[in-house]
Amino acid sequence: MKKTVLVSGGAGFIGSHVTVELARAGYDVLIADNFSNCDETNYKGVCAILGRELPMIPMDFCHKSAVEDLFDRHHIDAVIHFAAFKAVGESVAEPLKYYRNNLTSFINILEAARSQGGCNVLFSSSATVYGQTDKLPVTEDTPRQPAESPYGNTKTMCEDILRDSVKAYPGVRGIALRYFNPIGAHPSALIGELPRGVPNNLVPFITQTAIGKRECLSVFGNDYPTPDGTCLRDFIDIVDLAKAHVCAVARMLDGRMKQDYEIFNVGTGRPLSVLELITAFEKVNGVKLNWKYAPRRPGDVVAIWADPTRAEQELGWKAERSVEQTLATAWAWEKHLASLSF
Ligand code: WQD
Repeated sequence: MKKTVLVSGGAGFIGSHVTVELARAGYDVLIADNFSNCDETNYKGVCAILGRELPMIPMDFCHKSAVEDLFDRHHIDAVIHFAAFKAVGESVAEPLKYYRNNLTSFINILEAARSQGGCNVLFSSSATVYGQTDKLPVTEDTPRQPAESPYGNTKTMCEDILRDSVKAYPGVRGIALRYFNPIGAHPSALIGELPRGVPNNLVPFITQTAIGKRECLSVFGNDYPTPDGTCLRDFIDIVDLAKAHVCAVARMLDGRMKQDYEIFNVGTGRPLSVLELITAFEKVNGVKLNWKYAPRRPGDVVAIWADPTRAEQELGWKAERSVEQTLATAWAWEKHLASLSF
């Protein structure tokens, strides 16, 4: 029998790509989203890629009774939880908004899962939980550090909430995937990242500068102790990242977990500097980018990249796409968006 996977925040950037890969792998997918930080573009794109409508439930996971109702009405074999606020800077200015939303929604899901007698829960975590560590690359056993922002704290706290729930409630199993820097878009250019207002993240800022929406890209800091002075990151293709979720869900549903709570890094294992990324973007897409150096951005770690060995050995997952392929999809997506607005 087909298994059903609930994807909270399924209309967002990561959620929409994961939905496509789950559906292609043969799962029934229930998308739920409150559209607080996105419109229907990605949902429509998902349906266009798959050539069929997927069920979409407009709902807010902070409403406990709505979450209970959802679990009462549907048989849910696994949940992937993306629905959360994610702007690092805003979380510093509005910490309570972040704690209320990101923690409440996850607790509501876990309580509903528990009252159903258990569930498989995949939590979308982040490399932000590692902070800046001297020992690179980071493995899953690298100690976590106090986060730089309330947003980062909600990731650490939700990991702990999941770990403790799995320990206490029989039938609840969990996996936390720690993403490095997800970038790019679906090769169809029908789904991708849709930042509201001025983008905080590097690649959307690059593509918006290239298309002329932004005048100039600021490279935050050129005096870091790295080979070219700019920060080092592990940029992971969004479709590769989405496929890691399919592997993790299959592991949970097939009873292959070695412990009831597991953690995996989802990265390439290759560090790339901000400058190297800009150069690769210009080269693969044949565009010249207007950029300048600017002061360091508060809260940025100097360098972080994954040791993805555990994901490879245990999930059978590995990043496959080159950064050039990924940056070509990011540019195709930006051009697609521009064509929509004309
Ligand atoms: C990457 C590098 C910037 C913009 C954040 C969150 C993380 C995760 C992904 C999201 C840094 C530099 C950026 C610009 C620049 N969560 N940069 N000019 O900060 O590594 O990770 O996003 O939901 O939890 O912390 O990603 O893309 O913002 O920055 O020079 O205009 O690019 O300084 O070195 P980051 P990023």
